[in-house]
Amino acid sequence: MKHKTLLITLFSGLLFACSDQSSTPTDTSLKQASVEVAPVPAPPTAPVQNKGTCTGTYPSYWQDPKFPEMYEGQTVSDQPMPGYQGPIFRLSDGYPTELPNEIADQPWRDARFDPLFDASTEPDMKQKLALEYSWLVLEYIFAGNINSGNVETDWDVCNNPVRAWFNIPFQTYNVLAGREFTHGLTREAPVSFSMNTSPEPLNGTMWAVGFFNPTAAYTLGTIWKADGQPQIPTENVSFAEGAVVGKPLFTTLSSAQMPMLNNLPVWKANISSPDFCGCKSRSGAAQCTMTEESQQCPRSLDKYGPVTLLQFDLAVKDSRAEGTEWVFGTFVADGQRKATEPSPWKRISPLGLMWGNSTPPAGVLASSYPEAPRQNGFDDMVIFWDTVDMLNEDGGADQFAHPGHLGCNARLDGPADKAYSSCMSCHGSASVADQNINVPPIAAQFGGLTSECALQAADGSWIDASGAPASQREVGDVTISFPEIDSIFFASTPAAEPYNTTVATESGPVNVLPGQPSYANSERTEWISLDYSLQTSISIVQWKQWQQHAVDPKPAHLDVHQAKLPRR
Ligand code: HEC
Repeated sequence: MKHKTLLITLFSGLLFACSDQSSTPTDTSLKQASVEVAPVPAPPTAPVQNKGTCTGTYPSYWQDPKFPEMYEGQTVSDQPMPGYQGPIFRLSDGYPTELPNEIADQPWRDARFDPLFDASTEPDMKQKLALEYSWLVLEYIFAGNINSGNVETDWDVCNNPVRAWFNIPFQTYNVLAGREFTHGLTREAPVSFSMNTSPEPLNGTMWAVGFFNPTAAYTLGTIWKADGQPQIPTENVSFAEGAVVGKPLFTTLSSAQMPMLNNLPVWKANISSPDFCGCKSRSGAAQCTMTEESQQCPRSLDKYGPVTLLQFDLAVKDSRAEGTEWVFGTFVADGQRKATEPSPWKRISPLGLMWGNSTPPAGVLASSYPEAPRQNGFDDMVIFWDTVDMLNEDGGADQFAHPGHLGCNARLDGPADKAYSSCMSCHGSASVADQNINVPPIAAQFGGLTSECALQAADGSWIDASGAPASQREVGDVTISFPEIDSIFFASTPAAEPYNTTVATESGPVNVLPGQPSYANSERTEWISLDYSLQTSISIVQWKQWQQHAVDPKPAHLDVHQAKLPRR
């Protein structure tokens, strides 16, 4: 059964590869592919390789030369330049068309791990199981992806000999943040760390790429169709048991600035300026057009990089996690303690695992619930405190900006994440964009709403977990209080169920996003769930933007890195 699926996948991958010369997404259909038999000419400098699961149906990177209509009139800076000898990213998009059964390859599904999800299990036992679970998933993600003998050419998932891995399409349609051409990295939010290596805050940017296993990719294939025509979901999406997503995140900061980055994989990548490029619109409009951004903010292979591995995120669909049915975990750079570990990719340590959000009871702040988690632990997550201490060892003057800051009240969050959130408070919001290309803001600070994870400073003022001032905002004429906003941001959103944005206030229920969502030709008033996948959410946003631009070539430019759209 498993082998049959794999064969079908490989076969359809090969078929699509034949249509690789076509220039638009619409003429790569299976029908046409099967009659075109000309060999695929490799781009001038790319190594000639079997294309495997990389079919060329969707753009591989921003300014992919096969899709010129997407960057017409722009200054080109995200394509291999003459003489470039390094890796060229190809999108792995030959998604399985049958749901595979991967249970035999996923040892963390063993009944031995059942007690991890039982709140009454002793903390020591939970730690032990969480540690083993994390490594089993990571080893599964690593298999066949990290043994090329050169970190620069690892993660060429088009031809993984162990199992197929896939990427999401359409995280490409963005001048500043869209996939770059060397490793398929996309830009995430800026991060600032306080380290004892510098009196000033260290400002950098994160660049990341996500990999979906065959089970997860089957669901992607129900949206991102093999003919290049996506079917945007009109019902809640649900990933199947055993879906796994891995995501390495790289920083533009260096090992001289952050000692834990020593001995970690370093990639040369074609990235945009870490200072987010202050593009000025010639027409005086609030935002630049994509053309203006391409002119004023070119990518570069040398100027802003290289980038170094700081964090490795994973997400696993596991129905033993009651309600959420997801387990989120992360590893972080630990290059000094692990210097002698042979594979540079494994010079990382687990930071924690979470499968629920430790939702505070009504009226209680997320910042004070549960009490003393370092001593008492959490019911629905495990934090590895020795890793936290390692991250903070070289921290600087600003405690809020130490790399081991974790999330709200020590809920799990990586160094690259916001200290006032948690993995699951962002991911639980993943929804299909509505007809105005709105999605729920993944952190209250980005949405002009009451701040999440507020706490009272010693002087009585309200701050958030990053030390910034916190404020309570009104929706209509109702002030949404701090505990009220926490009740939605720290909910444990059930798998594949609509994200709830309605809070219970003294004046009755209030939707903090009035009028949203508004789906075309639909009476629906609830968000369409993307089952915790924010990459799917972003890809649909970018695809919808491309559709808008294709109809009207000069629209006001709606920028995907603006606050109202998801960002890290
Ligand atoms: C502030 C919000 C935020 C937090 C906190 C956050 N993420 Fe994400 N995450 C995102 C966004 C936005 C994306 C999609 C963008 C991308 O990957 O390029 C994403 C993507 C991912 C993906 C790729 C799969 C997918 O479809 O979303 C994984 C896996 C992931 N995150 C795991 C984690 C883990 C583990 C943590 C906690 C350690 C975490 N995330 C914390 C916002 C967040």
